[in-house]
Amino acid sequence: MEDAKVVTAPLIFAVIVASTSMFLAGYNAGVMNAPEKVVFPGHSTLMWTMAVTALPIGGPFGSALGGKLAENRGRRGAMLILIWTFLVGGIIQTLAQDMLTIIFARLIIGFACGSSTVLVPIYLGEMAPPSLRGTLGTMTQFAMVCGIFFSNLIAFPLKNSWRAMFSVTAVIAAGQLLISAFLLESPRWLLNKDPNSLRARYIIKRLRGLRSEQEVEREVGNFIFGESAQHQDEGGEKNTLKELWSHPKRRNLLMSCLILQMAQQLSGINAVFYYSNSFFDGIIDDPLVGTTIVGGVNVIATYVALLVMDKTGRKTLILCSSAGMFLSCIVVVVALLGLVNNMFAVLAVNAFVFFFEIGLGPIPWLIVAEMFDGKYVAMAMSMCSQLNWVCNVIVGSVFPYMNKYLGPYSFVPFASVLACTFVYTLFYLPETQGKTPEDLVAEMIRTNSQSVSFC
Ligand code: GLC
Repeated sequence: MEDAKVVTAPLIFAVIVASTSMFLAGYNAGVMNAPEKVVFPGHSTLMWTMAVTALPIGGPFGSALGGKLAENRGRRGAMLILIWTFLVGGIIQTLAQDMLTIIFARLIIGFACGSSTVLVPIYLGEMAPPSLRGTLGTMTQFAMVCGIFFSNLIAFPLKNSWRAMFSVTAVIAAGQLLISAFLLESPRWLLNKDPNSLRARYIIKRLRGLRSEQEVEREVGNFIFGESAQHQDEGGEKNTLKELWSHPKRRNLLMSCLILQMAQQLSGINAVFYYSNSFFDGIIDDPLVGTTIVGGVNVIATYVALLVMDKTGRKTLILCSSAGMFLSCIVVVVALLGLVNNMFAVLAVNAFVFFFEIGLGPIPWLIVAEMFDGKYVAMAMSMCSQLNWVCNVIVGSVFPYMNKYLGPYSFVPFASVLACTFVYTLFYLPETQGKTPEDLVAEMIRTNSQSVSFC
């Protein structure tokens, strides 16, 4: 390993192609914010809510299939299918003649987004050298927030020509397809199928910038010793799930991952990203400016997360994140009640997003690969991703009604979720930073009391 070049051109290329899918997932999460009034004017609130939430509805199906495709078709094959899906969804959405077609296209795009949230972390996790996994894990979130921000920026020149806004997905996916001929398969997947694979050896040589056959064999050993040896799954998917669930320590780890995924979505983050324009309407003169500032803060905060992620414990970051988001929710409520100036609501929404991105945004995604490896990671990732998208749909579809019926109190349910997240993290969440999945299981076995090992 010491001889291997850490960052090579094929690795950079893999990161660019894979992260572009996350960029598209972010772009499509944000793109519905601006054109609400110009897309087939006269549509009902229900129709628009359906169009917005069609994306997260497609998500869990994409996540379920993404894990399977990654196993059967290889990571590269699955990535190509997801890029095609973005392309087809993007074209249908651009040419739509009515709201129903838009809903249908967003379902397809949502499917691709759901696959991305499973495939991209697995693919990059397998391509990256261990020293870069934390950073690349946060990079995928960074690509996503850049996508959201781009959708805000592009709304300024294009807000009245929604077809052009929707066409961005198809154009970017077409570009991805053109260059994906050079995309390398994951050597781990190849070695898992055949430990003698020559193709895997060729890829490892290029990916790690190695020269001698000896170096390549040593690296192959790292791949096989690290995870593939355990990856020989004889009993298939059902057995993996059974093993995962019946082992109490692994079950605890899985529960932590699932709780964090729920916390991430039920914190209400997508209420902001899907509906910030209508939220800011009436509070500031140009809601689009407010939304764009939120998008910019989102990018900056994720960049901060990139810098601190490998230096600070996951628990500390989630504690700061949930506490900061909780306080921001309270300020939003106080401001909407008219007890302080409206501008505090705008500031608080920005603080809410900032605190999200330094903890609850990236960590639930990257922690799965820190808690599981080998044959468990794809299964755990797929389950987490499915739950994440289901909770995403709940917030996306319920928030307009919360807003209508709870009025200024619409952020109170989010504040309650954040308070519970803080308590859970403080007392129960295991610290994963700098540990391997084996360390975590061993550590949990060493201590009988969960609370001692978790704190
Ligand atoms: C996370 C969430 C996603 C959200 C994004 C905002 O990746 O999973 O739903 O839109 O953060 O930055």
